[in-house]
Amino acid sequence: AGPVRVKAGGPVNGRGAAGGRGAGAGGDDYDRPWRKNMAGQGGPKGSGAGGQGQGGQGGEEGRRKINYVGPDADLAAGLERDLLDRAPGVRWDDIAGLREAKRVLEEAAVLPLIMPEYFTGIRKPFKGVLLFGPPGTGKTMLAKAVATETGCTFFNVSSATLASKYRGESERMVRCLFDMARAAAPSIIFIDEVDSLCSQRGSQNEHEASRRVKTELLTQIDGCHSAPSDGPPGPNGEPPAPKRVMVLAATNFPWDIDEALRRRLEKRIYIPLPGPDERRELLAINLKSLVLSPDVEMDEVAAKLDGYSGDDITNICRDAAMNPMRRLTAGMAPSEIAAARAAGRDFTREPVEMRDFLTAASRINPSVGPEDIKKHVAWSAEFGSA
Ligand SMILES: Nc1ncnc2c1ncn2[C@@H]1O[C@H](COP(=O)(O)OP(=O)(O)OP(=O)(O)O)[C@@H](O)[C@H]1O
Ligand SMILES: [Mg+2]
Repeated sequence: AGPVRVKAGGPVNGRGAAGGRGAGAGGDDYDRPWRKNMAGQGGPKGSGAGGQGQGGQGGEEGRRKINYVGPDADLAAGLERDLLDRAPGVRWDDIAGLREAKRVLEEAAVLPLIMPEYFTGIRKPFKGVLLFGPPGTGKTMLAKAVATETGCTFFNVSSATLASKYRGESERMVRCLFDMARAAAPSIIFIDEVDSLCSQRGSQNEHEASRRVKTELLTQIDGCHSAPSDGPPGPNGEPPAPKRVMVLAATNFPWDIDEALRRRLEKRIYIPLPGPDERRELLAINLKSLVLSPDVEMDEVAAKLDGYSGDDITNICRDAAMNPMRRLTAGMAPSEIAAARAAGRDFTREPVEMRDFLTAASRINPSVGPEDIKKHVAWSAEFGSA
């Protein structure tokens, strides 16, 4: 079980070491507690997955070097450190609901990468896939799951990284990134918050720079599929299957994406707020490590959380999970709590009760408003697929 443990720890520890997050928006979803849970239990699950991809890189912390040949070796090394996510660690099963999105992603992203010979000619895969919807609905998780399920090389690019760390050389960075992705194909380039790449705000200068980055991105997406392959020819002497680099993008503001980019993100998948069944599933995923009191009616909790996003529900679960401790230690000094604990009191076994969920739900408001949903539905009707 040695190697499995190393891998299981990867997603959490590895990121800290990579330091890539420093450049991105601080404290985003990567440190959510459920990830840590997952890392904890992920051993057996992860090992099956690892076999296909990241794990296949073998032993030594999976330190496979991308074989980048080109003029920007320094930049490439930096990008590899900052953007390459060796163990995204999210599986389809960790994501509640979104069955249709998973199916479409499987067809649009997973299959072309694992059976490229089928997706040629008229069946050629989409250049890019866009996940859009209100915040906290699982878009980033879906992208990571695609990477895990395919075992692809996964580049996680947030526009925040582009804007801060690589400001001034963003164009070169985009080119280098695609070169690397081709060298490490099959790969996925995930561009989070892609709307901010096309934003019209800011000074004239900034506008000009972002326009150039965007143009470079469009060119690169167009070139993705013409990458020559050095692979072996097919069984009947067909030309070798092209190396796949797939662009996956996510946004909360699809209407801010301009037409040229939108056209290249051919498949556009709406990721809505969770429905009643999905909320029920989310609760189950979030609460699987907790002791629940028999009075907890999951269906009732799920029904109460109409209008909440997956992220909101995770937060409510976290808050509810703390409530027994708050209740039991109310009025106790830390020294008394320590004494109780030393005397053998196990606070982790205290069940979470129905009222804990109700209190949590009353404290936390839905983060997405109906107006926002309306806009998404309208955009989806006009530009969405599936
Ligand atoms: N369908 C889901 N299944 C399981 N967890 C979910 C789901 N949707 C949201 N979550 C929870 O919400 C958190 C945020 O999800 P994620 O980062 O994927 O949202 P997002 O759609 O990318 O949001 P944003 O648009 O703000 O980037 C996750 O870490 C997870 O805890
Ligand atoms: Mg996200």
